[in-house]
Order: sequence, then structure tokens, then C-alpha cells
Amino acid sequence: MVAKTETSALPECWKALDECLNAGIDRVILYGPSGIGKTYAGMTLGDVEAGAFRLVCTEDMTNLDVTGGFMPNGKGGFLWLDGSALKAWKGNGTKGGRLIVDEVDKASGDVFATLLAMLDSPESASWEHPETGEVVKPLNGFSAIMTTNIENMGELPTALADRFPIRIRIDAPHPSALLRLSPDLREYAVRMADAGDDRISLRAFIALDKLRASVGMERACSLTFGHRAKQILDALKVDGIR
Ligand SMILES: Nc1ncnc2c1ncn2[C@@H]1O[C@H](COP(=O)(O)OP(=O)(O)OP(=O)(O)O)[C@@H](O)[C@H]1O
Ligand SMILES: [Mg+2]
Repeated sequence: MVAKTETSALPECWKALDECLNAGIDRVILYGPSGIGKTYAGMTLGDVEAGAFRLVCTEDMTNLDVTGGFMPNGKGGFLWLDGSALKAWKGNGTKGGRLIVDEVDKASGDVFATLLAMLDSPESASWEHPETGEVVKPLNGFSAIMTTNIENMGELPTALADRFPIRIRIDAPHPSALLRLSPDLREYAVRMADAGDDRISLRAFIALDKLRASVGMERACSLTFGHRAKQILDALKVDGIR
């Protein structure tokens, strides 16, 4: 049994995710602005004690990334390596793990069919090893979280989206992410996380915070934000951040 998270002090989006995970929901799409903590949440929140396995979707990915394939073993032969989805199905051997399907909108047509099969309901899902004929099914506890930056879920292929009825737009950094920043930057980071075109990601704040300690705020802004540096430096000054 995994401890339930205290949800009262959380921003609404994180509260919603906690409620869903605590209720046993095992398919969730996290969408929203870049660098706000969707992937980190997928890798860490809820029951991930049997392992979290990340599948980063790109146009060039193949089924090797999803289910696995034969790779040279360095001795002239080949060795089967499981892909991320199969690893998550198997989890720790007794319990299924978490699959994070990152940037799902970027997956190519070829792998979509495989993803559909691997994300099917546990009763229907099964996969056959091409050489040994071994039939694998997802172990109890297998869960999947997909992440994307697209705002309109209608842009995802219907069959895939249909497997994920719960979709949560992440519009605020998690309080635990803010703890990585110096206290004076936290409030500003919250305000800028979902500020449309002016948005500043957590990644940028983490870099800025680190840089300013050694090169000073002005240079840190210039290195982190390029042509936006002056505008952001002025805004930071207004907030008393130096
Ligand atoms: N709860 C957290 N605790 C500590 N660090 C965090 C937390 N959430 C996010 N981070 C850090 O913030 C950065 C951005 O997080 P993450 O990669 O999860 O964003 P994302 O929403 O998936 O972005 P993208 O849409 O670009 O993939 C990472 O460096 C990550 O380690
Ligand atoms: Mg991500």
C-alpha cells in the first residue's frame, strides 16, 4: 500500500492528479506548457515502486524503443533487449511499473499501433516474443502517463486518446519543484510558468538561479534569456529580485 499524498495545500492541477492517482486511475495525460514538471511528475508521483520507464517519442523512434528488439551483443551475436513499454509491464517482476510516454504527439505512425496494443486495457493486452513465443501480459499495478505540449487533446489520435480518459492541464510548478529555487525566485516562477508567450520555464529559473550565484544577475539573465534578458531583468528588479 502506497501512502496517500496530502493534497490540501497543492495547486488545483496537482491536487487533481493526486486525487486520480490515489483513486487508482492508471491512465492519465498531462499536458500544458513546457518545463513545468509533467515528465518529472510522471516519473515520480503515485505508485512507482516497481519502476518508472520513460519512452521519449520522436519521429525516428521504432518499435525497438517500445517493445524491444535484438541488438548486437558485441560477440558477433544478438541479444534481446526489452523496450520501455515491456519493461513497465514487467515492472519489478511481481508488480507492474509506470510507463511515461513523453511527447506522445511526436510518435510516428509506425509505433502508434504498437503503443495502442501496449496501452490497451489490462484484460486485452498481451504481447508475444517474436523468437521464443513467450506471451507477456502487463502485471498488476502497471500504469501509464502520457505527456504532451499540445493544448487540444482532439489533435491526438482518437484511439490512443480514448485509452486515457483523464487529462489534466498542468499550469503551475509543483511546490516541491519550487524548493529547488532560492526563495526570492519562487513567486515569480509561479507567475511566469503559464504566462503565454512570456512564459519562463522551471528549467530557465533553475539555470538562472545557479548562474547568478557565480556571474551576477545581469550576466545570468543575458546567458539564460538572450534577447529577452533586458525585459526580464527589469521585471525581476521590480519584484526586488537581484
Ligand atoms: N517536483 C519537482 N521537484 C524537483 N524538480 C522538478 C520537479 N518538477 C520538475 N522539476 C524539474 O524541472 C524541470 C522541468 O521539469 P519537466 O522536465 O518534468 O517538465 P515538462 O513539463 O515535462 O517539460 P516539457 O514539456 O518541455 O517536456 C526539470 O529539470 C525537472 O527536474
Ligand atoms: Mg517533459
